[in-house]
Amino acid sequence: MSAPPQPGVPRHLAVIMDGNGRWAERRHRPRALGHRAGARAVNLCIDWCLRRGIAALTLFAFSSENWGRPEDEVGALMKLFLNALEREVDELHRRGVRLRFIGERERFPPEILARMAEAETRTAGNAALHLTIAASYGGRQDIARAARAVAEDVAAGRLSPADIDEAAIGRRMALAELPPPDLFIRTGGDHRISNFLLWQLAYTELWFTELLWPDLDEPTLERALADFAGRERRFGLTSAQVAPAGAVPPPLPTLDRTDA
Ligand code: IPE
Ligand code: IPE
Ligand code: MG
Repeated sequence: MSAPPQPGVPRHLAVIMDGNGRWAERRHRPRALGHRAGARAVNLCIDWCLRRGIAALTLFAFSSENWGRPEDEVGALMKLFLNALEREVDELHRRGVRLRFIGERERFPPEILARMAEAETRTAGNAALHLTIAASYGGRQDIARAARAVAEDVAAGRLSPADIDEAAIGRRMALAELPPPDLFIRTGGDHRISNFLLWQLAYTELWFTELLWPDLDEPTLERALADFAGRERRFGLTSAQVAPAGAVPPPLPTLDRTDA
């Protein structure tokens, strides 16, 4: 990764962009309109990451399970992806964004596949922001694929079963070339992972908001960041082990004796 980590700022942010459908339904409009409004929020989020020096952003755009939605909604989303790929890539490239896609991309129609490959090749040399779009992605599918890759290497004699460890699997997972997400944000009010980065989120700080994705604004992102900056990430260790050397612990709150 290019930029050194800044204290309190996540190097890698992962986002579940949820609530587009409800945003439209509350306005008595078709769900597809909510997805279109959601695309604007994507731009806002990317701009903010570039300004805040966040090196990597991973956005959950479409899950493995979302293929099961009504045909017209899936169709509208495909149209939206294609439009976004046609419209946004020039500007992303100009701003130094490297674009990658993770997920079962072979399920997409050929014109989308071609645009995805083109965008990846075109932006491969950029380093201002490493933007990954998870599309047709599922965390379980990601783990299953890594397991299959490991099995293929064992079958071909390239890997010994004794050498299968976390690192061997991690290298075969999506986003292997990035640090794992430091911060996870989910909009839309639900407190779940919905089959997003199951492996990669092991020690990610989770942050949830009721706000629907199309209503995303900077103050909300700033709130998430402020919350993240105040958290102590212990990774299974004790507070004393992870506290910076010489750090003074915060004073204990004084007890109001009259209440005792
Ligand atoms: C997230 O918004 C976008 C996709 C899953 C493609 P939803 O479409 O899930 O919106 P809600 O959760 O129904 O409001
Ligand atoms: C998660 O949202 C997937 C994306 C945002 C792309 P969903 O709306 O599909 O998740 P559930 O169904 O509420 O768990
Ligand atoms: Mg949803």
